[in-house]
Amino acid sequence: MSLPVPTKESVVVVTGASAGIGAELARQLAALGHDLVVVARREDRLLELADDVRVSHGVDVFVHAADLREREARVGLLGMVAERERHVVGLANNAGYGSNGRAWELDPDGEEGQVALNIAALHHLTLAVVPEMVRRRAGAVLNVASGAAFQPMPGMATYAATKAFVQSFSEAIHAELAGTGVSVTTLCPGPVDTEFGEVAGFDESSFPGVLKVSAEEVAAQAVRGMLTGKRSVIPGPQNKVLSLAGRYVPRTVLLPAMRRQTLS
Ligand SMILES: NC(=O)c1ccc[n+]([C@@H]2O[C@H](COP(=O)([O-])OP(=O)(O)OC[C@H]3O[C@@H](n4cnc5c(N)ncnc54)[C@H](OP(=O)(O)O)[C@@H]3O)[C@@H](O)[C@H]2O)c1
Repeated sequence: MSLPVPTKESVVVVTGASAGIGAELARQLAALGHDLVVVARREDRLLELADDVRVSHGVDVFVHAADLREREARVGLLGMVAERERHVVGLANNAGYGSNGRAWELDPDGEEGQVALNIAALHHLTLAVVPEMVRRRAGAVLNVASGAAFQPMPGMATYAATKAFVQSFSEAIHAELAGTGVSVTTLCPGPVDTEFGEVAGFDESSFPGVLKVSAEEVAAQAVRGMLTGKRSVIPGPQNKVLSLAGRYVPRTVLLPAMRRQTLS
């Protein structure tokens, strides 16, 4: 069934809901009538979103401020959902960030933090919620990867590698879940105007406008993917073509070209 109809015992968890794609996912899942747990570090932003969504859609929204790089914080999140006697019918593992530059010249803690958030948190939360979804024969996980998942990226080495993990792990689990009523959808957006570029330290305008898809449209396609149990969602036709290039252009050609573009 993938994402089932909402009930008062169920909830959808959205991580990274204080900005960008996550905030849009939260709004659109609430519009379907789902009660939400919204998670990020900036509580003020989450409270603002929660007020807005409650008024617009009449759903319950539980705000949980947490740094998901920390295992304890993830355990706390799962405990909070259990305390409220809700079961998770949807999980959007959206929180994530990147960095820009030669990996060995960047802040090592920032690089390690990407592994903790983009990989470990997503892995932990996915494996925490899927068993109960399988027992109930319904549920949808959305794991946010990136167009960066399709090839190594000089200039974003750690980030692209984390997203390759997300894609590989999520597609494999999706296949393992065949016939259970539960799906794991991998979302691979190209460039989206959010706070991502500012956090990663690069100029958003360096991306051709033709590749850009709005956060609203990305979230709409992602939510449709959760409803229909799709394996993979790549918003934007140009980004679909680029994903093929990332997979099939030989690395001997691709890597020097990317290095020239991102590190010159
Ligand atoms: N924008 C793009 O071009 C693009 C393209 C492909 C993929 N993506 C992926 O899309 C996802 C959403 O990114 P976005 O573009 O919406 O970026 P964004 O506007 O920077 O939002 C990132 C979200 O993640 C949260 N977050 C960051 N660190 C966190 C932590 N340690 N613990 C908990 N939450 C944390 C942020 O909230 P706080 O700062 O409040 O914690 C924020 O809500 C990411 O996984 C990103 O890799 C983005």
